[in-house]
Amino acid sequence: MKKIVIICKGGFGGEMQIYLQETYPEGSGYVVDRVQELFPEDDFRPAPDEVFVVANGEPRIKAALVRKIEAAGGEIISMIHPTAYVAPNAKVGHGAILCPFAFVAPFAELEPHVTMNVHAGTGHNSKLATFVVLSPYASVSGAAELGTEVFMGTHSYVAPVVKIGARTKISTGAFAVVDIPANALAIGNPARVFPNYFD
Ligand SMILES: CC(C)(COP(=O)(O)OP(=O)(O)OC[C@H]1O[C@@H](n2cnc3c(N)ncnc32)[C@H](O)[C@@H]1OP(=O)(O)O)[C@@H](O)C(=O)NCCC(=O)NCCS
Repeated sequence: MKKIVIICKGGFGGEMQIYLQETYPEGSGYVVDRVQELFPEDDFRPAPDEVFVVANGEPRIKAALVRKIEAAGGEIISMIHPTAYVAPNAKVGHGAILCPFAFVAPFAELEPHVTMNVHAGTGHNSKLATFVVLSPYASVSGAAELGTEVFMGTHSYVAPVVKIGARTKISTGAFAVVDIPANALAIGNPARVFPNYFD
């Protein structure tokens, strides 16, 4: 029996506890053990019967924690909730977190460690790079492409075929209707772009 350890210091960890119990019920070989805080500078040694889920909505912190756990030999598992829809021909990389009612359309491609919160959706032929985080109800249209560590706030939107550069943040309710470079902040509808905001 593997023990699932949820790495989190905020409310997402409590939510994930329930979603994980629903995803890994009795008989699955996994049991949800605990929520634990972890900081990039902490000393960390995983036990052999532990597996990990990093529940953190900030892509840079999530990436740092996942790398730390993997470097220490820890295994990150996926959480694909039973109510999430994943098209049979979509690709979902390892370590994905797909919360209740997440939607992954046909031909979509998710690289490892993508997080999609409740009701987030990604359209046909869209590409989400490593550590992308979609907050609740965030919507990525068909053939759009999000670079590594892109963050989308609640109810934000990326239009069809639009490309969002690495580490850019699409703020809550913002509509990205044209390409946006890396490290930018986008706010409003249509989104105003502040380049190099996160350098
Ligand atoms: C993208 C985001 C993370 C940026 O956060 P940040 O780097 O701390 O930036 P700030 O919040 O300081 O915002 C920078 C500026 O943009 C403005 N701004 C940010 N989001 C905005 C929005 N949605 N509409 C209008 N203005 C906005 C702020 O007022 C601020 O302006 P100022 O410098 O004149 O005060 C944050 O705006 C956001 O959208 N958070 C999402 C929260 C969310 O959806 N969480 C999901 C929980 S499950």
